[in-house]
Amino acid sequence: MYRLQQHSHDWTSGRPVFTTCPVGKTRVGQELIQGAIDPSIHFNQSPLIPIVSIMPVVTNGRVIYLGHPEGIYQPGVHTKYVEEQLDTDAVPLNGGILVKLLAISSDPYMRHRMRDPTIKMFAPPVTVGEPIDNFSVAKVVRSEDSAYSPGDYVIGYFSFEHYSVHPGHIKHEFKHCVKVPKIPGLPLSAFVGILGLTGRTAFTGWHLYAKKKAETSKTLFVSGGAGAVGTWLIEYVKAIHPHLKIIASAGTKPKVDLLKSLGTDVAFNYKEENAEKILAEHGPIDIYWDNVSGAQTDAALVNMSMFGLILACGAIAGLNKEDEGIVRHFEKIFERYLTVQGFLFRTGPDAERAFNEFDQEVFPLLQAGKIQNREHRFIGLQNSEKALLAVHTGENFGKAVIIVDEEGGEA
Ligand SMILES: NC(=O)c1ccc[n+]([C@@H]2O[C@H](COP(=O)([O-])OP(=O)(O)OC[C@H]3O[C@@H](n4cnc5c(N)ncnc54)[C@H](OP(=O)(O)O)[C@@H]3O)[C@@H](O)[C@H]2O)c1
Repeated sequence: MYRLQQHSHDWTSGRPVFTTCPVGKTRVGQELIQGAIDPSIHFNQSPLIPIVSIMPVVTNGRVIYLGHPEGIYQPGVHTKYVEEQLDTDAVPLNGGILVKLLAISSDPYMRHRMRDPTIKMFAPPVTVGEPIDNFSVAKVVRSEDSAYSPGDYVIGYFSFEHYSVHPGHIKHEFKHCVKVPKIPGLPLSAFVGILGLTGRTAFTGWHLYAKKKAETSKTLFVSGGAGAVGTWLIEYVKAIHPHLKIIASAGTKPKVDLLKSLGTDVAFNYKEENAEKILAEHGPIDIYWDNVSGAQTDAALVNMSMFGLILACGAIAGLNKEDEGIVRHFEKIFERYLTVQGFLFRTGPDAERAFNEFDQEVFPLLQAGKIQNREHRFIGLQNSEKALLAVHTGENFGKAVIIVDEEGGEA
């Protein structure tokens, strides 16, 4: 396949002079080669105005990081959506691949990445002036890496850009890229939700640290129960430990109704009801899955049973307002012989094993409809910033995901 490229002008006729280059498959270029269209009709002939280049130039939307938030992240202030023109045939790959973004995740932890880079944390900081990046699913457009071919679907850590090069110049430990098949009945976006960060976090934490304890436990409390990780966990626990009584909290009535529809035994709105009182009434709590920290963790601590287990999964309450993340009742840890187990998705001594066991255990549950794909979709990369904010305001009802290209959202 050849692509026509404007080489120079014939200044007497004003016609462009084209040369061919051995890449690209543009329809216009092919038709020109075949003589099906006349460039003098289709292209600007003025010697003073640059001639249209017959290259696959696309509009490349990008979400650029502008600066670190002090409190809550604000779209347009800490990030900005911009558009540039990009020649997808000409962008240098340097041995890598060019991917077209299909869907990208919005996650609470992204706020941890929006920080002064001198502060050390589990996740790499985002760089001012560069596009932000996150777990995503994409399609290979061009490849200089023999492991990938155009048309392959890949999951990885790509930029909030319609088109980007992997590995590209932004380097950090979260960068990865793995080929995936299209799974019948599930959209590709599921790879950043129930099959990705969300599902694998809930599975890893429970599988490695709570499964055994659950066998002899009676009561589980899940804060942030109606969110992506929370709903996944509740459905999974209902499926494999039906004897457990599940108490769960959420911040709105529709979310409380969702919790009830999942089979949660006691669902409450933590903004309107007293968590400590409810846990006292329905506890004691043998296992507490903590998605939020702060006041709800204090309510759990004073209601834990002896030798209880706390799985510290997340601390969103303190992410934007430090004071709301404060936990006061540490004395209950020694008084009640509690175990507090923190963990991170994809890391830790046994995370690899949990990853391998995920497919074996979880796919049958998905096929049986016991774990559902619930997505709160933001359509179009230009709506990414809304999605990044939604997980902090509680707007998301299900896994917050940006469907960048239709193909990313098709089941
Ligand atoms: N350990 C790991 O490797 C790992 C991996 C992924 C996620 N996580 C953590 O797991 C938790 C859930 O993540 P997710 O992806 O499933 O997000 P999510 O629950 O789908 O979305 C976040 C939810 O948090 C709630 N929230 C926001 N501000 C809050 C506050 N001040 N106090 C209490 N709740 C608040 C909101 O729900 P309401 O409307 O109910 O308030 C919001 O919808 C987060 O803390 C996240 O950081 C940990």
